[in-house]
Parts: sequence; structure tokens; C-alpha cells
Amino acid sequence: MKIPAAITSIVLATTAQTARCFTSNLKFSKSTALNVEKKDSYSITVLPGDGIGPEITESTKEVLNALCERCDFKIEMTDALMGGCAIDEANDPFPQESLDQCRKSDSVLLACIGGYKWDNNPRELRPETGLLKMRKEMGLFANLRPAKTIPQLMDASSIKPEVLEGVDIMIVRELTGDVYFGEPKGIDVIDGERVGYNNMIYKESEIRRIAKVAADVASKRGGQLCSVDKANVLDVSQLWRDVVIEVCEKEYPNVELSHMYVDNAAMQLVRWPKQFDTMVTGNIFGDILSDQASMLVGSLGMLPSASLGEPGTPGVFEPIHGSAPDIAGTDKANPLAMILSAAMMLRYDLSRPDEGALLEAAVEKVLDDGFRTADIKTDDDGCTLLGCKEMGKKIVEIVKTLPIPQPVLA
Ligand code: IPM
Ligand code: MG
Repeated sequence: MKIPAAITSIVLATTAQTARCFTSNLKFSKSTALNVEKKDSYSITVLPGDGIGPEITESTKEVLNALCERCDFKIEMTDALMGGCAIDEANDPFPQESLDQCRKSDSVLLACIGGYKWDNNPRELRPETGLLKMRKEMGLFANLRPAKTIPQLMDASSIKPEVLEGVDIMIVRELTGDVYFGEPKGIDVIDGERVGYNNMIYKESEIRRIAKVAADVASKRGGQLCSVDKANVLDVSQLWRDVVIEVCEKEYPNVELSHMYVDNAAMQLVRWPKQFDTMVTGNIFGDILSDQASMLVGSLGMLPSASLGEPGTPGVFEPIHGSAPDIAGTDKANPLAMILSAAMMLRYDLSRPDEGALLEAAVEKVLDDGFRTADIKTDDDGCTLLGCKEMGKKIVEIVKTLPIPQPVLA
């Protein structure tokens, strides 16, 4: 039966109202993302990683199971090794077996990796090397990091509320190029002293494909794209700027494109972040600016991210926070960023946007109900402090009671 358009739009509106949408309510065009069509049963790989990773993974799995039960579909979850735990068990931060497992999945959910224990290892045996290998091998060139102010957490930020109110930025970071992967690189002895070097390098094709994703994202948000570079000094940035202009002029004439030097962008992000809608930048600038933007939300513990490759390949969804080894095993971690990452996975890879919205609504409700983990609690907020496990259980309870999303026929 075909549902009349008017009813469809009411259903859509109701879904939109229940969920505040932490991850920005954008829908990609088919050519940009969505790994698999909607189906009854999915298989995903879960990488619990290190530090607080296993704890937040446990809570997220419980939440996903509750969601599947409530909405009548299945997600089969298979764990794989990555990061420090993989070094300990397999002497490789991202073993081939894990890569194969990820490649054949519908999607990948990653917690976090790293810890003091491996910090002094040779580079090939560091957890971060596993993460970079995964990004490269899986072709995850587009990293989406939303920074949207959460009104309930405004006090947790060190920035004034009037500056934060209404901030909704999507940072699109290139993820498989730049100085992270450029050759040559190394530390050599030249003229009797050590010289360290990396190569900041981008091919035109790499810039073009990330510019397209960013322009596509911008066209489905506020229509504004700010490209961040250092074209006043760096040749590689000049090429970046030229190619971004070409792509937007030719293929996205309706996107309003602007350019900003990275030092100015860093300053503007704290001075008046509301001026930004969608930002696109290279790997290293994006790494730095996205950490900075996270402070507009109040805590790193709330921010999900999506790393996407070519259409039809699995993406990786992960919180942007690290593995917090100092609180690992103490049940103090905040599982919400990983739960929101699972929401992004449902939305972008599994063609289940309504179920993603339900998870986001559950996170919103837990905050409205006054529950906080330590990282988002302030002394006089009158809220109840919860551990990681209890926070997961609260979300499970809420998922069981929120209205089930109605199927929408297009
Ligand atoms: C990130 C992290 C990684 C990066 C590290 C852990 C290699 O900081 O995902 O932002 O630099 O990309
Ligand atoms: Mg980083």
C-alpha cells in the first residue's frame, strides 16, 4: 500500500520531533553513503579496543540488543582485535584477521584504542598504527565529526552560553592522506645531527573526492561550506583550495563556498562558532580542529563520528574520545558517544535512520531526566551521577519505552 505523501511527511515530522538529533539530521545522497539497503538482519564487527573501550562497548551492545528487540530486527555482533589488545594477543595492532572480518561486515563499530603501556613501543607496534592501517586499508577517506551544542550540557563547557547556543557544525575531515601517510618520512642523521621529516602531500583526486562529500553534506544542511587550509604558506594547500573551488563551481553551484586559513579558523571556532555550518579540511588540520570543536559541546565524551569510504563499503563508527586509561576499569566512563556512534551507524550504513533517531532520542531523554556521568556533571547541577553500566541500563530502559518508529514508505 502506498502511503499518501501528506501522511508520510507527518510521520517524518513526528520522528524528527522525538529526536533532537545529535548527529545532525542529514541524509546522504545514495552516491555518498549508505552501505546496505534496509534488511531484517545485519552483521557488524565490534572493536572494543583498550582502556575504557570494553566498558563502553558492553553498554552499547546492551543498548543495541534492546533496540533490535523493540524494533524487530537483528544485529549480529562479532568482536575483533584492534589496538593495544591486538598487540598483546597477536603482536599486530590491526591483524589481517580483523581486517578481513571488518571488510565482510555490514558496518564496524569501534570503541577506542591506546594506553600508556604501548606508548614507547616502536611505531609499528603502537595502537595508533593499527587505527591508521584500518583507515587506509578500508579506504575510509571521509571522516564526519559533528559538533552540535547540547542545551542540557551547556554548563559543562568552559565557553560562555551565548557563544554556544545553537552551534551546529559538521567537520568533514579527509582521513587517508596528508602528512599522516605522506612519503618520504623518517628520522635520519644528516650532517651529524638527527633530522625528522614527514611529507604533507595531496593528490588532486584525493582532494576532489573529499570536496564532493563535503559539498554534498553541506547541500543537505545549511548550504554553507568553509574550506580550511594554509594556502598563504603551503603549496599543498594552494592545490587544495583550487580543487575545492573547481568541484563546487562545477558540481555544487548552490553551495556557498568560503575559505579560511587554519590559524584563523581555530580562533573563529571559539570566538563565534555559529558562523560555521559545514567545514572541510585535510587530515592534520581536521584532527586538531575537531578536538577543539568538541569543547563547544561540553565534553569529548558525547561526540560520535563516522568514517566512510566508497559507496557499498562498510564505514567505521566511533566516539572521538580516547581510551582514558586513567579511569579504565573504574566504571566512570561515559558510554553516550559510543551509543551515538551506533546511531550514526544505523543512519548512514544500515539504512535505519528511524532507529538511529530513536537512540538519539533516548540519549536526549536520559539527559533531560537529569542523569550524568562524571565527565558531564557539574557540582551544583542537581543531577544524579551514574557509572558507565548504570548509564547503559538507563538508556536500555528508555529504549524499551520510547515510541517505535513508524515505517515510512517513500
Ligand atoms: C583521531 C585521533 C587519531 C588521529 C590518533 C589516535 C591516531 O587523534 O582519530 O582524531 O590522529 O587521527
Ligand atoms: Mg584526534
